This record gives sequence, structure tokens and C-alpha cells, in this order.
Amino acid sequence: MGDLRPIGVFDSGVGGLTVLLELQRVLDREPTVYLGDLARCPYGPRPQAEVRAFAIQVGDYLASLGIKLLVVACNTATAAAYQVLRDRYPFPCVGVVAPGAAAAARATRNGRIGVVATDGTVASGAYRRAILECRPDAVVVEHAASWLVPLIESGPHHDVAIEDRLTAEMTELRRTGIDTLILGCTHFPLVRAIFQRAVGPDVTLLDSAGTTVMEVARLLREFGLEADGVPGHRVLVTGPAGAFGARAETMFRTSPAIETVNLSGTVWDARENNDLMRSS
Ligand code: DGL
Repeated sequence: MGDLRPIGVFDSGVGGLTVLLELQRVLDREPTVYLGDLARCPYGPRPQAEVRAFAIQVGDYLASLGIKLLVVACNTATAAAYQVLRDRYPFPCVGVVAPGAAAAARATRNGRIGVVATDGTVASGAYRRAILECRPDAVVVEHAASWLVPLIESGPHHDVAIEDRLTAEMTELRRTGIDTLILGCTHFPLVRAIFQRAVGPDVTLLDSAGTTVMEVARLLREFGLEADGVPGHRVLVTGPAGAFGARAETMFRTSPAIETVNLSGTVWDARENNDLMRSS
């Protein structure tokens, strides 16, 4: 049976489902609870302090549900709040920036790495720092594309408009000589084929899902948190589900019951819970 508490995963919307899908595929005995903060999506154009406050509120809500590990399946929230979240909870937290940066540092042949992410993630410098930590001689070229998030969020019918604009923007990026491009927003793998066409076949596209899940697996082992049962999964949203449900259905080939939750009444006393954890 092991530890049957769920793994909490969150994003502003559908993007984190790309991480959740990989997590459920690889760690298929683990229960999960996913929260899409649809009421406040997108996070990308917002100031860091605001995203940090949202991330803490979502983290506290998931903590109050009794999760055993938190996956911040949002680059923007990872960039703005990872340290705060890691220090706040008694359970391990995994962000998506460091695993993606490490994968790119390993994959590049010429040391020139591109990052496409939201404005918030690019402004934070989180990818640049994480890549240079792994590979100090790397050249990092960042490109902000927050505009993509609402189009992806609202469903596949915008794909033609996305392709036109992305082709122009990626042509510019390709001129910098990058051989590896990090999709530094968890929404972006949902239009991966468009990115690949726009950037050309010689550029390796990477996202964080696989390496993030490897890090989750490592932490579950290290802290003795692994589950071994038939897992249940919950999907929560904070606002009207819109295209979210259809996207989840296509990705998971099942129609999950989507529960709408209100975060405003969340009571989680981080200090009290950390003290309890230490004294037990
Ligand atoms: N999917 C998120 C990310 O990885 C958030 C995008 C947004 O809400 O702007 O950055």
C-alpha cells in the first residue's frame, strides 16, 4: 500500500496537465490531485509578487488536502515562488525550471540554448541562472511569448493564428544559432508540432515533464513516500472550466470529474504544521 496520500500538482490552467500526464504514465501507482487556477489564468503577464501570492494560496489549499509532495507544474510560478514554497511546507516541492535547464545543458552540442517562456519567467532570469549553473559557458537566448497562453488555453481552433506568428518569431530566434530550445512554459508542449515546424528540424525541442517526473520519483524514494495501490485522481479548478475539460478529455482519454473550488477560505498554518512535523 505504501503512502496513499496524493501528489499535488498545479498550474494556472491546462499547461500543467502535460506534466500530470507524464507523472501518471510513469508513476502509475501514485494518486494525484491537480489544481488549475483558471480564475486567474494567465500568470505570465502578472508581477512576480502577485504570482507568488497566488502560488502560496494554491499551495496552502493543496496542503490542506493532505498532499505528500507538491509539483509546481508552472514555470512562471516556479520562477516567482519556488524557494518560498519549498521553505513553507513540511513535504518536498518540485519545480519545473531546474529539471528543464539541466536537460538542455546535457542536450546541447554547440552550447547555444534558446528558452521560450512567459514574460514573467523570462523577466525572472530563472532559466538563465539554472542553465549557467549546469553549464557556465552556455549562451542563453530567451524569448518571451505570453501571448501564446490564452490561445492555447482556449482550445486548438487558434492553431493557424499561432503558427503564423510563431513562425516569424522563431525565425528570429533560429538566427542566433541555437541548437536546443526549451519550451519553458508548460502550455507550450501542447503546440509542440507547431514549434518544431517553426524552428526547423535541426533544433532539439525540450520540455520539463520527463525530467520533473524523474525528480519526483527520486524524492518519493528518498523520503519513503511511494504508494503502491490503485490510484485515484482528482481535478480541481478555480473558475469556469471552458475548454479545460475538453483538453483534459483528449489528453487523458477519459472524462475526469472536474470540481470547482474556492481558495479564499483556505486555512493552512505553515508554521504550526512545520512544527508538528518536526516534533513527530
Ligand atoms: N503554464 C504556465 C507556465 O509554465 C503558466 C502560463 C501562464 O499562466 O501564463 O509558465
